[in-house]
Amino acid sequence: MKVHEPDIAVLIEVIQQNSDYDFQQYSEKSFQRRIEKVLDDHKLSIHQLIEKITANNDFMERLVKDITVNTTEIFRDTKTWHILKYKILKNFIEKEKINIWHIGCSTGQEVYSTLILLNEMGLFSKTEVFATDLNQDVLEVAEKGLYKFREIDEFIDSYDLVMKHSEEENIDYAGIPYQKYFVINRRKNLIKIKPPLLNKPTFLKHDIVKQGNIFERKFDLIFCRNVLIYFNHDLQNKLFEFFYDNLNDDGVLIIGRHEGMLGEIASKFKKEESIYKKRVL
Ligand SMILES: C[S@@+](CC[C@H](N)C(=O)[O-])C[C@H]1O[C@@H](n2cnc3c(N)ncnc32)[C@H](O)[C@@H]1O
Repeated sequence: MKVHEPDIAVLIEVIQQNSDYDFQQYSEKSFQRRIEKVLDDHKLSIHQLIEKITANNDFMERLVKDITVNTTEIFRDTKTWHILKYKILKNFIEKEKINIWHIGCSTGQEVYSTLILLNEMGLFSKTEVFATDLNQDVLEVAEKGLYKFREIDEFIDSYDLVMKHSEEENIDYAGIPYQKYFVINRRKNLIKIKPPLLNKPTFLKHDIVKQGNIFERKFDLIFCRNVLIYFNHDLQNKLFEFFYDNLNDDGVLIIGRHEGMLGEIASKFKKEESIYKKRVL
């Protein structure tokens, strides 16, 4: 069902007045598409939707979950992980402590992917990992580290691609079977992340638009992949400045493959693919 701009504005206002969520600076197009899908799925008009969320807090929470897209996978966009492995993490070997923040971590596959590389590079024990998302439900899945097989059907290919030995490096991951990190139950179609990966990250409900850095530290690595795509340009730029301020001097920001930095802020980073290294000015 087609929704018009003035109705979208009213809806965003009602959400803001009746909850902690603020979608004022989300990309209009993407917000509109999500709302149209919700209306179709629930067979509601925009006015009925507004009435429902005003009267029923549970429905409001459901709506927020429907608006935010939670797609993720193990080693999503393998090229990014190659650069991370060979060009970024190896510079962290000399560090005494490493702080990592995954923003919009969804169900956690991206977080566990990072932990695998940290473990293989001997960086695991000196790293602290925070992983946050707006949506409490996805965080509960992330904490359990238990996934339906079809969700990460392609994961073995991606795992092999990222873990494969590279000639240019003297690190050989080729012999590391995925069973080191995952238990697979083919009968039930389940994949379970094993300890010590499972117990390592701190997962927290957190809204990056409203809450900023609650961790009282700067980070060596900030992931914010496939989250910015839902925000408008002003908000994206505010967040890029925020990431810059909250990275250590040699810190690195990783964003999604379809996301990019434009304008003055781009000169503050050195870019390779989706990986942005902070320039000290
Ligand atoms: C498409 S998923 C990306 C997951 C993962 N980063 C990846 O790229 O595979 C986007 C996630 O961002 C979260 N999100 C959206 N708005 C957010 C906000 N304001 N603060 C924190 N997380 C947010 C959503 O709940 C969703 O889980």
